[in-house]
Amino acid sequence: MSEPILNTLDLSRHFGALRAVDAVTLEFAPGRVHAIIGPNGAGKTTLINLLSGDLKPSSGSIRFKGQDITGAPPYVVSRLGVGRSYQKTNIFPAFTCFENCWLGAQSRERTSMRFLRPARRYRSVRERTERALALCGLTERAHVVSSAISHGEQRQLEIGMMLATEPELLLLDEPLAGMGAEEAARVIGLLRELAADHTLILIEHDMDAVFAVADRLTVMVNGRVLETGDPQDIRASPAVQEAYLGSGEGGG
Ligand SMILES: Nc1ncnc2c1ncn2[C@@H]1O[C@H](COP(=O)(O)OP(=O)(O)OP(=O)(O)O)[C@@H](O)[C@H]1O
Ligand SMILES: [Mg+2]
Repeated sequence: MSEPILNTLDLSRHFGALRAVDAVTLEFAPGRVHAIIGPNGAGKTTLINLLSGDLKPSSGSIRFKGQDITGAPPYVVSRLGVGRSYQKTNIFPAFTCFENCWLGAQSRERTSMRFLRPARRYRSVRERTERALALCGLTERAHVVSSAISHGEQRQLEIGMMLATEPELLLLDEPLAGMGAEEAARVIGLLRELAADHTLILIEHDMDAVFAVADRLTVMVNGRVLETGDPQDIRASPAVQEAYLGSGEGGG
C-alpha cells in the first residue's frame, strides 16, 4: 500500500467517563474514498472533529502527509489541505451562495498571497469561489440568499464552501442527510466526480450511497473500530452483520 495521506495512532477522545473515540488506529490511502459507518453515537462525528482540528484529542496522534497535526487548530489543518463539511448545515443564511463560498475561498488565502496586488488577490479569490459554485452545482443560484434555497441545495452549498478552500482531503459528515432521492443522487454523482482528484473520508448512513462510492469501509461501534476492509468483505462480515448491518442499517 502507498503511504497513507492521513493516519491516526491510538486516537482517543473522552467526554468525562464516555470514550466517544477509543484508541482508533486507521490509515487513509491517497486518492481513495474511505467510508466510516456505524450506529448513532458510534463516535463518527467526534472522529471527524478530531481530524479537522475542531476537537483536541485526549490522547493519541494524527499525521497528515507525514506531518504531525495532533492538536493543530482548524485553520491550520484547513490550510494544509483538509476540508470538512458538517452533519448539521453550517452555512450563513443571510448571505448569498456566492458570499458563503467566498468566505471559504478567502480563508484559504496564503500568507504569501498578501504580497500580491489587491486586484490580483481579489481575482484569485473570485475564481476559487466560482469554481466551487460550479462544482457543487449552484452557479445558477449564486446570487440567491442561502436561506431561500432548498434543503438539498443548502447541503450542496455546504460542500461548495468546503471546496472553495481547495482541499486535497475532504471530510464529509453525512452529506446526504435529509435529502430526497433526486437530490441524493445528484450529490452521489458529485462525490464520484470529486473522488477523481481528491481523497474522501465519508460518513454516511445511506448504505446504497456508501456501496456506490466507497473503496474502503470502516465500521465503528462504541468509539472503536470494529472492522476495516473492502466494501464486499465488510458486507459479508458476520461481526458487522450482527453489530450493524443486520439490524436495519442503524437509521439516523
Ligand atoms: N461535546 C460533547 N460532549 C459530551 N458528549 C459528546 C460530545 N460530542 C459527542 N458526545 C457523545 O459522544 C458519543 C459519540 O457521538 P458522535 O456524535 O461522535 O456519534 P456519531 O457516530 O456521529 O453519531 P450519529 O450517527 O448520530 O451522528 C455520543 O454518545 C455523544 O453523545
Ligand atoms: Mg455524527
